[in-house]
Amino acid sequence: MADRTPVLIDCDTGIDDAMALLFMLAQDRYDVVGITSVFGNNTAAQCAINSLRVLELVGRTDIPVAVGAEQPLVGEVTYLATHVHGSDGLGDAGLPVDVTASVDARDAVQLIDDLSREHAGRLRILAVAPLTNLAHALEAIPDLTQRIHDVVIMGGAADAPGNQSPAAEANIIHDPEAAQAVLSADWGLTLVPLDVTMREVLEESDRTALFDAATPVTEFVARATDFYFGGYGSDVYARRASPAHDALAAAILTGDIVPTVFPEIDVTVDCTDGPGRGSTICDTRGRYRGFEGTAAGRVRVALQTDGGFPRVLVQTLVDYGSRLSR
Ligand code: RIB
Ligand code: CA
Repeated sequence: MADRTPVLIDCDTGIDDAMALLFMLAQDRYDVVGITSVFGNNTAAQCAINSLRVLELVGRTDIPVAVGAEQPLVGEVTYLATHVHGSDGLGDAGLPVDVTASVDARDAVQLIDDLSREHAGRLRILAVAPLTNLAHALEAIPDLTQRIHDVVIMGGAADAPGNQSPAAEANIIHDPEAAQAVLSADWGLTLVPLDVTMREVLEESDRTALFDAATPVTEFVARATDFYFGGYGSDVYARRASPAHDALAAAILTGDIVPTVFPEIDVTVDCTDGPGRGSTICDTRGRYRGFEGTAAGRVRVALQTDGGFPRVLVQTLVDYGSRLSR
């Protein structure tokens, strides 16, 4: 276990968060040492319960799950994405609600403080939700950026349209001020925006492959994805399909997916109250020369991938489900 890389997952467990969690739990080289929840797809409290439900499914109730922020740094929660992730946040897919573990007695910031001290210098953070917890942690823990190896964020849109507004992606617009704080802090930053997540699309054939594998893990993901396909997917793609935003960020963290266009550029969050609020202004002006010769910015941004992710995700989940079922 000692040589496995520790990862903390900050999430609003939701359907694609659950896929990301299972993808990370399936990795031999990574050790999920903690999970923190935040509002977004549902309340932080419900998202924490949903993470516990997923951990129960795979027998990993040893992993601490701490409840985080229910409100953004500024203003109020404007919506919860239950229309996208179902009323329970996991696609109303029938995953048992009875869990043997409880949420951790610590809150999200305390868990981040403890784990970043225990794994100082090695802890990686996969942030696939509004960034409020990380902003609070930066405020509360003065040397946090020295303790963390890097942060991989699912969020934003560089040259692609938003999904919550024409300009803004959901995780960022939920708390623009938090996103600006996280993206301007002095730690390693990778951004996985809609530019790539909306183009790595799960199709019915992927769901069929999951169902055919006939394990509890793959059946849960297949059922939850059915909800994702039915509402969100059909609305966006005019067919039964869906992205797997957070799981792609996980695969980029592990290196299973290496973006084909992946420059280090500057990113600024629009924190004004205009139509651009919550947009991520990415300096992609170097794109016409392949970003050759551009001064390195502070955030590595995934602008293009090769389309192979759905196959990687399905195979990872099938193999993991099969290992657990032996
Ligand atoms: O915009 C997609 C993001 O918002 C994903 O993280 C999804 O889970 C929701 O949180
Ligand atoms: Ca999420």
